[in-house]
Amino acid sequence: MDPKRAVEPVEIEWFEEVESTQLVARGRVERGLSAARGFAARVQTSGYGRHGRVWQSPAGGLWMTLALPDVADESIASAGVRVGAACGRVVEELVGGGRVRIKWPNDVLVDGGKVCGVLCESVLHGGRRWLLVGIGMNVNNGAATLTGHLRRAAVALCELTGGEVDLKRLAERVASEVRGSLLGEAWRSELEWAAARLWKLDERVVVLGGDGSRGSALVRGLSDGGGLVVEMDGRRRVLDGGSVIESWDERGGHGAESGGEP
Ligand code: BTN
Repeated sequence: MDPKRAVEPVEIEWFEEVESTQLVARGRVERGLSAARGFAARVQTSGYGRHGRVWQSPAGGLWMTLALPDVADESIASAGVRVGAACGRVVEELVGGGRVRIKWPNDVLVDGGKVCGVLCESVLHGGRRWLLVGIGMNVNNGAATLTGHLRRAAVALCELTGGEVDLKRLAERVASEVRGSLLGEAWRSELEWAAARLWKLDERVVVLGGDGSRGSALVRGLSDGGGLVVEMDGRRRVLDGGSVIESWDERGGHGAESGGEP
């Protein structure tokens, strides 16, 4: 990590098996957690991802939620993209440059396979806003541990590096990068990093707008707020979290789409 952005380490609590580390973190915040903390589990039995998708969480992966208090309001909107970039940087350190892409808003792909997904939820308790940053990273759980289409769509770090990765060290590294990415001054460099590695840049995708509209769009970059900048019908549009890329393949296929559902 950039030494200028050194941040206090976050203590991480490890569990053998939980339903979801998001639920563990939420429960702890609601019971009066006072400082940033991480919750990680060897196995999750009901892990979930964005849009309520099932997130397969067998042993060997990094399944972790960071509960972070007092994240600035202006950071919350772009938090997902920034955290995706932070995870992407850690992945890039391990697999080498030129192979990592950020699939908007925050999937980390290597050679087109999904290594990591991010889920950000916020919770208000006792007048404080907490951000629950859920990180799911395929690490020592090779594709054979996953079922359904994920066997093809996902890839694990151990398959990319050819060796086992130390999960605890990785968790600490990711926690530190993620915290740094949410600091006030970091947003521009995070977004620039992600924009330079944007999946399907200058290619066509199919967008389902939050208003129900549907159409073909050309991916052009990221906005300052972390939205996806596209061209649709000759006009520039910034997609926010209410929009979904219905297909990352102009022909209607799902390409490397994977949300963790079986
Ligand atoms: C996605 O790509 O849809 C985001 C997946 C986020 C999964 C992580 S694993 C740790 C945390 N606990 C959960 O139940 N979900 C997140």
